Amino acid sequence: MNTTLRQLTIFEAVAKHLSFTKAAQTLHLTQPAVSMQVGQLEEEVGLPLFERVGKKIVLTEAGQEMFHYCQSINQQLKELDDVMEALKGGGKGHLRISVATTANSFATRLISAFTHKYPGATFALDVTNRKTLLEQLAQNEADLVLMGQPPENKDLEPHAFMANPLVIIAPPTHPLARAKRKIGLHELEQETFVVREKQSGTRIAMERFFSERHINIKAGMEMTSNSTIKHSVEAGLGLGLVSYHTLELELETQRLVILDVEEFPIQRQWHVVYNRNYRLPPMAQAFLTFLHSAEAAPLLDFDFPT
Ligand code: PGA
Repeated sequence: MNTTLRQLTIFEAVAKHLSFTKAAQTLHLTQPAVSMQVGQLEEEVGLPLFERVGKKIVLTEAGQEMFHYCQSINQQLKELDDVMEALKGGGKGHLRISVATTANSFATRLISAFTHKYPGATFALDVTNRKTLLEQLAQNEADLVLMGQPPENKDLEPHAFMANPLVIIAPPTHPLARAKRKIGLHELEQETFVVREKQSGTRIAMERFFSERHINIKAGMEMTSNSTIKHSVEAGLGLGLVSYHTLELELETQRLVILDVEEFPIQRQWHVVYNRNYRLPPMAQAFLTFLHSAEAAPLLDFDFPT
Protein backbone atom coordinates (compact mmCIF):
# COMPACT_ATOMS: atom_id res chain seq x y z
CA MET A 1 0.00 0.00 0.00
CA ASN A 2 1.26 3.43 -0.88
CA THR A 3 -0.90 5.59 1.36
CA THR A 4 0.22 8.95 2.69
CA LEU A 5 -0.10 10.30 6.22
CA ARG A 6 -2.23 13.09 4.82
CA GLN A 7 -4.72 10.62 3.38
CA LEU A 8 -4.90 8.84 6.73
CA THR A 9 -5.46 12.12 8.62
CA ILE A 10 -8.27 13.10 6.24
CA PHE A 11 -9.84 9.65 6.38
CA GLU A 12 -9.68 9.71 10.19
CA ALA A 13 -11.50 13.05 10.34
CA VAL A 14 -14.29 11.76 8.06
CA ALA A 15 -14.54 8.53 10.05
CA LYS A 16 -14.68 10.43 13.35
CA HIS A 17 -17.46 12.79 12.26
CA LEU A 18 -19.08 10.43 9.75
CA SER A 19 -19.40 13.47 7.54
CA PHE A 20 -17.31 14.75 4.65
CA THR A 21 -18.57 18.30 5.27
CA LYS A 22 -17.64 18.32 8.97
CA ALA A 23 -14.23 16.79 8.25
CA ALA A 24 -13.60 19.45 5.61
CA GLN A 25 -14.52 22.18 8.11
CA THR A 26 -12.25 20.86 10.88
CA LEU A 27 -9.33 20.43 8.48
CA HIS A 28 -9.93 23.76 6.71
CA LEU A 29 -10.25 22.05 3.34
CA THR A 30 -12.95 22.02 0.69
CA GLN A 31 -15.33 19.09 0.63
CA PRO A 32 -14.25 17.97 -2.88
CA ALA A 33 -10.62 17.89 -1.68
CA VAL A 34 -11.62 15.64 1.21
CA SER A 35 -13.68 13.35 -1.06
CA MET A 36 -10.80 13.11 -3.52
CA GLN A 37 -8.28 12.08 -0.85
CA VAL A 38 -10.64 9.46 0.58
CA GLY A 39 -11.35 8.20 -2.95
CA GLN A 40 -7.61 7.83 -3.61
CA LEU A 41 -7.18 5.97 -0.33
CA GLU A 42 -10.02 3.58 -1.26
CA GLU A 43 -8.35 2.97 -4.62
CA GLU A 44 -5.05 2.29 -2.93
CA VAL A 45 -6.65 -0.15 -0.49
CA GLY A 46 -8.84 -1.73 -3.16
CA LEU A 47 -11.91 -1.70 -0.91
CA PRO A 48 -14.65 0.83 -0.10
CA LEU A 49 -14.15 2.44 3.33
CA PHE A 50 -17.57 4.12 3.62
CA GLU A 51 -21.03 3.21 2.45
CA ARG A 52 -24.20 5.25 2.25
CA VAL A 53 -27.19 4.34 4.38
CA GLY A 54 -29.96 6.75 3.45
CA LYS A 55 -28.57 10.24 3.96
CA LYS A 56 -25.79 9.10 6.26
CA ILE A 57 -22.43 7.47 5.70
CA VAL A 58 -21.14 4.59 7.79
CA LEU A 59 -17.81 2.78 7.93
CA THR A 60 -17.52 -0.50 6.09
CA GLU A 61 -15.66 -3.36 7.79
CA ALA A 62 -12.49 -2.25 5.97
CA GLY A 63 -13.23 1.33 7.07
CA GLN A 64 -13.50 0.26 10.72
CA GLU A 65 -10.14 -1.51 10.52
CA MET A 66 -8.60 1.51 8.82
CA PHE A 67 -10.02 3.82 11.54
CA HIS A 68 -8.57 1.64 14.29
CA TYR A 69 -5.09 1.66 12.72
CA CYS A 70 -5.26 5.40 11.93
CA GLN A 71 -5.88 6.15 15.60
CA SER A 72 -2.93 4.09 16.75
CA ILE A 73 -0.64 5.53 14.03
CA ASN A 74 -1.58 9.05 15.14
CA GLN A 75 -0.99 8.14 18.75
CA GLN A 76 2.47 6.80 17.87
CA LEU A 77 3.26 9.97 15.92
CA LYS A 78 2.24 12.12 18.83
CA GLU A 79 4.43 10.08 21.17
CA LEU A 80 7.32 10.34 18.73
CA ASP A 81 6.89 14.09 18.67
CA ASP A 82 6.89 14.29 22.47
CA VAL A 83 9.93 12.05 22.83
CA MET A 84 11.87 14.07 20.25
CA GLU A 85 10.96 17.28 22.08
CA ALA A 86 12.10 15.75 25.36
CA LEU A 87 15.41 14.66 23.77
CA LYS A 88 15.98 18.18 22.53
CA GLY A 89 15.76 19.23 26.19
CA GLY A 90 14.78 22.69 27.28
CA GLY A 91 11.54 21.51 28.91
CA LYS A 92 9.51 21.59 25.71
CA GLY A 93 6.46 19.44 25.14
CA HIS A 94 2.70 19.44 25.05
CA LEU A 95 0.27 18.55 27.82
CA ARG A 96 -3.43 17.89 27.33
CA ILE A 97 -4.99 18.39 30.72
CA SER A 98 -8.69 18.35 31.53
CA VAL A 99 -10.17 19.38 34.84
CA ALA A 100 -13.53 19.11 36.57
CA THR A 101 -15.31 22.47 36.63
CA THR A 102 -15.22 22.26 40.42
CA ALA A 103 -11.42 21.99 40.37
CA ASN A 104 -11.01 24.98 38.06
CA SER A 105 -10.15 27.46 40.83
CA PHE A 106 -6.99 25.73 41.99
CA ALA A 107 -6.16 23.89 38.74
CA THR A 108 -5.45 27.14 36.90
CA ARG A 109 -3.13 28.25 39.72
CA LEU A 110 -1.27 24.95 39.53
CA ILE A 111 -0.91 25.18 35.76
CA SER A 112 0.28 28.75 36.03
CA ALA A 113 3.00 27.73 38.54
CA PHE A 114 3.92 24.76 36.31
CA THR A 115 4.36 27.05 33.27
CA HIS A 116 6.84 29.16 35.24
CA LYS A 117 8.90 26.03 35.80
CA TYR A 118 8.48 24.81 32.20
CA PRO A 119 8.13 27.93 30.04
CA GLY A 120 8.54 25.81 26.91
CA ALA A 121 5.46 23.70 27.67
CA THR A 122 2.29 24.15 25.64
CA PHE A 123 -1.13 23.20 26.95
CA ALA A 124 -4.56 22.19 25.84
CA LEU A 125 -6.70 22.86 28.91
CA ASP A 126 -10.31 21.74 29.01
CA VAL A 127 -12.64 22.51 31.91
CA THR A 128 -15.59 20.20 31.68
CA ASN A 129 -18.02 17.85 33.42
CA ARG A 130 -17.26 14.43 34.91
CA LYS A 131 -18.91 12.47 32.10
CA THR A 132 -16.74 14.17 29.45
CA LEU A 133 -13.60 13.76 31.58
CA LEU A 134 -14.14 10.00 31.68
CA GLU A 135 -14.79 9.89 27.92
CA GLN A 136 -11.61 11.85 27.28
CA LEU A 137 -9.60 9.39 29.37
CA ALA A 138 -11.11 6.41 27.54
CA GLN A 139 -10.50 7.90 24.10
CA ASN A 140 -7.03 9.28 24.84
CA GLU A 141 -8.16 12.86 24.35
CA ALA A 142 -6.51 13.99 27.59
CA ASP A 143 -3.15 12.98 29.07
CA LEU A 144 -4.13 13.90 32.62
CA VAL A 145 -7.43 14.62 34.30
CA LEU A 146 -7.99 16.40 37.61
CA MET A 147 -11.24 15.21 39.15
CA GLY A 148 -12.90 13.90 42.31
CA GLN A 149 -13.16 10.16 42.87
CA PRO A 150 -12.97 8.31 39.53
CA PRO A 151 -15.07 5.15 39.14
CA GLU A 152 -13.49 1.70 39.72
CA ASN A 153 -11.91 0.90 36.37
CA LYS A 154 -8.82 -1.22 35.77
CA ASP A 155 -7.72 1.10 32.94
CA LEU A 156 -7.57 4.17 35.18
CA GLU A 157 -4.68 5.08 37.45
CA PRO A 158 -5.80 7.60 40.09
CA HIS A 159 -3.51 9.40 42.56
CA ALA A 160 -5.03 11.41 45.39
CA PHE A 161 -3.23 14.72 45.83
CA MET A 162 -5.43 16.94 48.00
CA ALA A 163 -8.45 16.82 50.31
CA ASN A 164 -11.78 17.90 48.81
CA PRO A 165 -14.16 18.74 51.67
CA LEU A 166 -17.83 19.10 50.69
CA VAL A 167 -19.84 21.56 52.76
CA ILE A 168 -23.41 22.76 53.06
CA ILE A 169 -23.97 26.42 52.23
CA ALA A 170 -26.73 28.88 53.06
CA PRO A 171 -27.27 32.64 52.85
CA PRO A 172 -26.23 34.38 56.11
CA THR A 173 -29.88 35.24 56.83
CA HIS A 174 -31.06 31.61 56.81
CA PRO A 175 -32.38 30.44 60.23
CA LEU A 176 -29.97 27.48 60.24
CA ALA A 177 -27.08 29.85 59.55
CA ARG A 178 -27.80 31.61 62.80
CA ALA A 179 -27.88 28.37 64.81
CA LYS A 180 -24.70 28.15 66.83
CA ARG A 181 -24.99 24.40 67.53
CA LYS A 182 -24.18 21.41 65.40
CA ILE A 183 -27.19 21.01 63.14
CA GLY A 184 -28.57 17.44 63.19
CA LEU A 185 -28.75 15.59 59.84
CA HIS A 186 -32.48 15.01 60.34
CA GLU A 187 -33.09 18.77 60.49
CA LEU A 188 -31.94 18.93 56.86
CA GLU A 189 -34.97 16.86 55.84
CA GLN A 190 -37.08 20.01 56.31
CA GLU A 191 -35.00 21.92 53.76
CA THR A 192 -34.83 21.98 49.97
CA PHE A 193 -31.46 21.66 48.25
CA VAL A 194 -30.42 23.04 44.89
CA VAL A 195 -28.36 20.19 43.49
CA ARG A 196 -25.77 19.43 40.82
CA GLU A 197 -26.56 17.23 37.80
CA LYS A 198 -26.85 13.48 38.48
CA GLN A 199 -23.52 12.46 36.91
CA SER A 200 -21.44 15.01 38.82
CA GLY A 201 -19.01 13.79 41.48
CA THR A 202 -20.52 16.21 44.02
CA ARG A 203 -24.04 14.85 43.49
CA ILE A 204 -22.88 11.22 43.63
CA ALA A 205 -21.05 11.87 46.92
CA MET A 206 -24.02 13.79 48.34
CA GLU A 207 -26.51 11.02 47.53
CA ARG A 208 -24.24 8.29 48.87
CA PHE A 209 -23.63 10.19 52.12
CA PHE A 210 -27.32 10.81 52.87
CA SER A 211 -28.59 7.42 51.72
CA GLU A 212 -26.02 5.57 53.88
CA ARG A 213 -27.46 7.51 56.83
CA HIS A 214 -31.10 7.04 55.77
CA ILE A 215 -31.65 10.79 55.49
CA ASN A 216 -34.18 11.92 52.89
CA ILE A 217 -33.04 15.08 51.24
CA LYS A 218 -35.46 17.12 49.15
CA ALA A 219 -33.73 17.87 45.85
CA GLY A 220 -35.13 21.00 44.23
CA MET A 221 -33.69 22.57 41.10
CA GLU A 222 -30.88 20.75 39.33
CA MET A 223 -27.93 22.78 38.01
CA THR A 224 -24.84 21.95 36.02
CA SER A 225 -22.46 24.46 37.56
CA ASN A 226 -21.28 25.39 41.02
CA SER A 227 -21.58 29.08 40.32
CA THR A 228 -25.30 28.71 39.51
CA ILE A 229 -25.74 26.71 42.71
CA LYS A 230 -24.04 29.46 44.70
CA HIS A 231 -26.12 32.21 43.10
CA SER A 232 -29.33 30.25 43.71
CA VAL A 233 -28.46 29.66 47.36
CA GLU A 234 -27.68 33.36 47.74
CA ALA A 235 -31.06 34.15 46.19
CA GLY A 236 -32.81 31.94 48.73
CA LEU A 237 -33.78 29.03 46.47
CA GLY A 238 -32.54 26.48 48.99
CA LEU A 239 -29.43 25.09 50.63
CA GLY A 240 -26.51 23.85 48.54
CA LEU A 241 -23.78 21.28 48.86
CA VAL A 242 -20.51 22.17 47.15
CA SER A 243 -16.76 21.68 47.40
CA TYR A 244 -15.17 24.03 49.92
CA HIS A 245 -12.70 24.90 47.18
CA THR A 246 -15.33 26.73 45.14
CA LEU A 247 -16.21 29.17 47.91
CA GLU A 248 -13.21 31.42 48.39
CA LEU A 249 -14.84 34.62 47.16
CA GLU A 250 -18.31 34.09 48.63
CA LEU A 251 -16.92 33.40 52.10
CA GLU A 252 -14.60 36.39 51.93
CA THR A 253 -17.45 38.71 50.96
CA GLN A 254 -19.82 36.96 53.41
CA ARG A 255 -22.45 36.36 50.76
CA LEU A 256 -22.65 32.72 51.84
CA VAL A 257 -21.90 30.82 55.03
CA ILE A 258 -20.98 27.22 55.71
CA LEU A 259 -23.48 25.52 57.99
CA ASP A 260 -22.19 23.72 61.06
CA VAL A 261 -23.76 20.30 60.41
CA GLU A 262 -22.91 17.06 62.24
CA GLU A 263 -20.58 14.71 60.33
CA PHE A 264 -19.69 17.52 57.93
CA PRO A 265 -17.65 18.25 55.88
CA ILE A 266 -17.90 15.12 53.69
CA GLN A 267 -14.26 14.16 53.24
CA ARG A 268 -13.31 13.44 49.64
CA GLN A 269 -10.07 13.65 47.71
CA TRP A 270 -8.96 15.29 44.49
CA HIS A 271 -7.29 12.87 42.11
CA VAL A 272 -5.01 13.19 39.14
CA VAL A 273 -5.98 10.37 36.77
CA TYR A 274 -4.54 8.87 33.59
CA ASN A 275 -5.28 5.88 31.39
CA ARG A 276 -2.77 3.05 31.90
CA ASN A 277 -3.21 1.92 28.28
CA TYR A 278 -1.56 5.03 26.86
CA ARG A 279 2.01 6.10 27.27
CA LEU A 280 2.34 9.23 29.40
CA PRO A 281 4.08 12.01 27.45
CA PRO A 282 7.15 13.53 29.20
CA MET A 283 5.26 16.74 30.06
CA ALA A 284 2.54 14.72 31.81
CA GLN A 285 5.23 12.89 33.82
CA ALA A 286 6.72 16.28 34.70
CA PHE A 287 3.31 17.56 35.84
CA LEU A 288 2.79 14.50 38.07
CA THR A 289 6.19 15.05 39.69
CA PHE A 290 5.40 18.75 40.09
CA LEU A 291 2.05 18.00 41.74
CA HIS A 292 3.78 16.05 44.50
CA SER A 293 6.65 18.52 44.89
CA ALA A 294 7.37 21.06 47.61
CA GLU A 295 6.80 23.83 45.02
CA ALA A 296 3.17 22.82 44.51
CA ALA A 297 2.49 22.25 48.22
CA PRO A 298 1.57 25.89 49.09
CA LEU A 299 -0.91 25.93 46.19
CA LEU A 300 -2.63 22.85 47.56
CA ASP A 301 -2.78 24.11 51.09
CA PHE A 302 -6.29 25.32 51.61
CA ASP A 303 -7.69 22.81 53.97
CA PHE A 304 -11.04 23.13 55.66
CA PRO A 305 -10.61 25.07 58.93
CA THR A 306 -11.34 22.81 61.91
P1 PGA B 1 -17.92 17.52 39.93
O1 PGA B 1 -16.45 17.09 40.29
O2 PGA B 1 -17.78 18.89 39.30
O3 PGA B 1 -18.29 16.43 38.96
O4 PGA B 1 -18.79 17.51 41.13
C1 PGA B 1 -15.85 17.22 41.46
C2 PGA B 1 -15.93 15.98 42.28
O5 PGA B 1 -15.97 14.87 41.74
O6 PGA B 1 -15.94 16.15 43.51
